[in-house]
Amino acid sequence: MTAIIPFISQIDKAEQINWIKQLNTLIPEANIVPASEISPYDKPLCHLAIVADPDPIEVSEFTGLIWVQSLWAGVERLMKAFRDESFGIVRLIDPQLSQTMAEAALAWSLYLHRDMPAYRQQQSKQQWQQLTYTSASERTIGVLGLGALGQISAVKLAEQGFNVLGWSQHQKIIKGITTYCDESGLTEMLAKCDIVICLLPLTRQTKHLLNTQRLAVLPKGASVINFARGGIINSDDLLKLLDSGHLNHAVLDVFEHEPLEQSSDFWQHNKITVLPHISAPTIPGTACKIVAQNINRYFESGTIPKTVNMKQGY
Ligand SMILES: NC(=O)c1ccc[n+]([C@@H]2O[C@H](COP(=O)([O-])OP(=O)(O)OC[C@H]3O[C@@H](n4cnc5c(N)ncnc54)[C@H](OP(=O)(O)O)[C@@H]3O)[C@@H](O)[C@H]2O)c1
Repeated sequence: MTAIIPFISQIDKAEQINWIKQLNTLIPEANIVPASEISPYDKPLCHLAIVADPDPIEVSEFTGLIWVQSLWAGVERLMKAFRDESFGIVRLIDPQLSQTMAEAALAWSLYLHRDMPAYRQQQSKQQWQQLTYTSASERTIGVLGLGALGQISAVKLAEQGFNVLGWSQHQKIIKGITTYCDESGLTEMLAKCDIVICLLPLTRQTKHLLNTQRLAVLPKGASVINFARGGIINSDDLLKLLDSGHLNHAVLDVFEHEPLEQSSDFWQHNKITVLPHISAPTIPGTACKIVAQNINRYFESGTIPKTVNMKQGY
């Protein structure tokens, strides 16, 4: 009998149909259908669901779930919503997504490294002024989080000639990268960074990790890039350090509330570059293949892919 897999999502309907169409061609043993089309009789019989920004109430109607496959790499919201559920959450780990994030890390590091925010402002004042050039090897970039996205980003930056440092929960050995862990390692690393890039998950431990105390450890004139989650940086503290002149610039792709409120001070701040959560969007073509591999393997052998660690928070 063909298994029914609910596609539970609040994303745009046309986008949902697109995902479902692609997934159905790659998963022959299942019939993936929008959750709303599944009868109350069939709902408890579903063991597996595919989710993309789902309504938690809709998920709770599927009482027989063993695991859910997310179409996104970041699953902070899912973990919060389903903290007490017994099913496992499998996030998207897509090498293409890691490459996309590494490209963003490189692009926005180069933007800061080559003083583009300053030249943009000079142009607005019709000011012709050459700033002193600093070579990549004289710049130190620290990457917070050395997981699926952070590790490849760090390596790409090192290949570009930057001096790259990285911080993670567990000590790591990565060729060409100086690595740190724990609180004293973070302080030691931050004190050396010209640019710090955040690629950590948002957890109880990382919430407002970058506060006044830790941002002040960065050398004067350092810049911050946040590609992870808005809640990892304390916004008020960041503004204070930018306004005091301690920090040079912040590139922010993620915010505590998205879309960023129209009233936010960030929009007009000349030391902040606002991006609309675009550093590493899920790419349906490659994501569908990864999701299909996970699900086809489950049908063949009963193997559930690695689920996020609810206790650890990522
Ligand atoms: N802006 C975007 O477009 C976008 C797209 C996708 C994802 N994201 C964000 O990027 C985040 C990272 O993704 P990922 O796939 O790289 O996650 P991941 O593979 O789970 O890696 C997380 C990394 O953070 C480290 N870490 C976690 N908690 C820590 C702590 N308390 N102290 C020190 N290090 C800690 C982990 O250390 P260990 O390796 O030692 O465990 C690991 O290296 C996601 O959670 C999501 O929020 C953003």
